[in-house]
This record gives sequence, C-alpha cells and structure tokens, in this order.
Amino acid sequence: MSMPRLNAAGHAGVQVRLVDPDADARAAIGRLQVGPEQVAFVAPAASYLEMCDAPNSPWLPFAVERDGAIVGFVMTAVDPTDNSLCIGGLIIDFAQQGRGTGTAVVRALVERARATGYLLVALTYAPENTAARVVYSRLGFVETDDKDGNEVIALLQLRGAN
Ligand SMILES: CC(C)(COP(=O)(O)OP(=O)(O)OC[C@H]1O[C@@H](n2cnc3c(N)ncnc32)[C@H](O)[C@@H]1OP(=O)(O)O)[C@@H](O)C(=O)NCCC(=O)NCCS
Repeated sequence: MSMPRLNAAGHAGVQVRLVDPDADARAAIGRLQVGPEQVAFVAPAASYLEMCDAPNSPWLPFAVERDGAIVGFVMTAVDPTDNSLCIGGLIIDFAQQGRGTGTAVVRALVERARATGYLLVALTYAPENTAARVVYSRLGFVETDDKDGNEVIALLQLRGAN
C-alpha cells in the first residue's frame, strides 16, 4: 500500500505552481488579503508587483497557484555578488493559510536555487512574525545576527564555500 508523501509539517504532498503572472493573475494578486495581525509584516501584494515592474528592477514576480487557483504571491532576485537568491514578498491569502502552501512555495524556490547552482538563499522577516519563522526554520534557514532595518536576515547555505 502506498502512503501519501508528507512534507515537514505533515501536510500531504502539497503541489504548488509558481507562474509568471498574466493580467488575470495580477488581478488575483491584487485581491490577496493577509490577517489583521499580519498587515505590519508585509506591504500590499500589488505594491510588490509594482516593485517588480519598475525599470531595471532585480525582482521577478510569481503568482502562487494551488489546485488551479491563485492563492499567493512571491518574488525573487539574484544577488550576483555572492551568488545568492533572495526571496521576498511571500504572501498566502489569509483564507488559505495553514495548509502547507507557504512551506511548499519556499521549498520549490530552494529546489530551483539548488538546481541553478546558487550558493545561498536569503530572506528577511519581522522578528514577531511567528508563521514566517516556522516556515523558514523548518526548511533549514538560520537566523543571522544581521538585520535589514527591523527585520531578521536568515540564510540557507546550499553548498560549501570551496
Ligand atoms: C508566512 C505565510 C506565508 C505562511 O504561509 P502558510 O501557507 O500559512 O504556511 P504553512 O501552512 O506552510 O505553514 C505555516 C505554519 O505556521 C504555523 N503558524 C501560523 N501562525 C502561527 C503562530 N502564531 N504561532 C505558531 N505557529 C504558527 C502554522 O500552524 C503552520 O505550521 P504547521 O504546518 O506545522 O501547522 C503566511 O502566514 C502569510 O502569508 N503571512 C502574511 C504575510 C507574511 O508575513 N509573509 C512573510 C513575510 S517574510
């Protein structure tokens, strides 16, 4: 008898697609909502899209699709100076949270980064953002002593420094 594949949180094998957002997906991203206690942790998703669209922006936007619906947003940027991938603006719609989607998104980005040959994945979060800390730490991100403004900087080393 085959068993369902479980992720680190115990959610049955969660599948997400990260897609270049078309006009419909952009509209759906604009409708994403976070919880009332989460508004301090992130900017509105639409403003992250604007950041990605700015001339010469290093940020690439992704719509998070699960079961055919847009349920979230994330963006990435490459830092060529240390061959790292930065993850930013992760938002899962409040109604969809707690089902393993955020973990699956970050896991997928880490797998891509590893396959591409990046050495490091970097991200930041507000220290009181417990859900973000749970997601990132379960995937192996380690908090540094450095800060980006008030936010903790956490890193995942993908390969040795040799
Ligand atoms: C952070 C975020 C992306 C996680 O997305 P998600 O789809 O809910 O993530 P997952 O379901 O994979 O995991 C969330 C985990 O945090 C846990 N969690 C959530 N709130 C928590 C809290 N206050 N205390 C402890 N654990 C908490 C959940 O129980 C879950 O763990 P479990 O899988 O062991 O049950 C989502 O909460 C979000 O969009 N928050 C608002 C925006 C934000 O803060 N983004 C991150 C910016 S760095």
